[in-house]
Amino acid sequence: MKLLSTTLERVKPSPTIAVTNKAAELKAAGRDIIGLGAGEPDFDTPQHIKDAAVVAIALGKTKYTAVDGIPELKQAICAKFKRDNGLDYVPAQVSVSSGGKQVLYNALMATLNEGDEVVIPAPYWVSYPDMVLLAGGTPVVAEASLQTGFKLTADQLEAAITPRTKWFLFNSPSNPTGAGYSRDELKALTDVLMRHPHVWVMSDDMYEHLAYDGFEFCTPVQVEPRLYDRTLTVNGVSKAYAMTGWRIGYAAGPQELIGAMRKVQSQSTSNPCSISQWAAVEALNGPHDFIAENNAAFVRRRNLVVEMLNAAEGVSCPVPEGAFYVYPSIAGLIGKTSPAGVKIVDDEAFATALLEETGVAVVFGAAFGLSPNFRVSYATSDAALKEACTRIQGFCAALR
Ligand SMILES: Cc1ncc(COP(=O)(O)O)c(C=O)c1O
Repeated sequence: MKLLSTTLERVKPSPTIAVTNKAAELKAAGRDIIGLGAGEPDFDTPQHIKDAAVVAIALGKTKYTAVDGIPELKQAICAKFKRDNGLDYVPAQVSVSSGGKQVLYNALMATLNEGDEVVIPAPYWVSYPDMVLLAGGTPVVAEASLQTGFKLTADQLEAAITPRTKWFLFNSPSNPTGAGYSRDELKALTDVLMRHPHVWVMSDDMYEHLAYDGFEFCTPVQVEPRLYDRTLTVNGVSKAYAMTGWRIGYAAGPQELIGAMRKVQSQSTSNPCSISQWAAVEALNGPHDFIAENNAAFVRRRNLVVEMLNAAEGVSCPVPEGAFYVYPSIAGLIGKTSPAGVKIVDDEAFATALLEETGVAVVFGAAFGLSPNFRVSYATSDAALKEACTRIQGFCAALR
């Protein structure tokens, strides 16, 4: 009998984590590496949030908690949805997990049966299709294009929906493109969803607070309140509060679904870290002024990277609305050969040669379902970004 399950054999390990590991390996071997692969802010967790965790430890808040979150955190999450999104939820409609990733996983595990389809716009966050596969469902990828700023159109969504569609898994601002849907763009999609009452909506709002140039963030149920009874709105403290390591994510939605997610969590991990939950209470209820300061740095870095990448031969990079990623196209470089003799047949070959020959680590577009592109995370210092983009420019100019 073979060891591994057939379900697991359908799943691939996270390519973004693979790039991060490869870059770390080369660095350990003494190479001069600049990593633009990681999806986390380079800022430290704000001091008042750390202090809340220290207090929680001192007060002995170090035991098991309610499976899907302490009441104080659920209350803070309800207040957040009211404050930021104008949405009314009660604590029984809220679920807290070890990161946004577990929230999404719980929801898929709790709802998918064999053959159930999940519509995922591409480019997508690497984990979506594999999580759907792990949960026994079928990912249906709907490709958005560079021409629409990597945003799915109403017609594309309509074409992807079938009688087997269970979820539309939506993410704005997006990892990996940074694209943010305006209210009108979102309304076009929710109008389609109103015509298909069997389709549920999972909105991944992880980058809500990382939006620039006056971009107005909207979440689907805010734009179309009639979706309230079939929408799970997912969020977390990882990105905006620089708390990736604390592992707290949350969601709000219909009570039956939240109860089913609790059941999955109760038989897998139980509660998320008690100390992290108290830190998240402080994150959500405490001062938020540091977010604007961080965002000022992100905008500066985004502009720097977009400008320098557009100046690279054969590279074309749109200006995204949010998150901390850009997703340039390398259509102009396919078929060329690198100085070390590597043929750039696709974006994976490009990213591999770029890392080997210049020490710059990026993630290739095929990992996100749209090629030929690569993802740059600009959540790193201005100096590192400048040096990395200079190396990318040099690499592109040297291709023959
Ligand atoms: C779009 C998106 N959703 C969810 C997550 C998961 O966040 P967390 O670290 O809270 O699990 C990430 C993290 O990279 C992400 O980019």
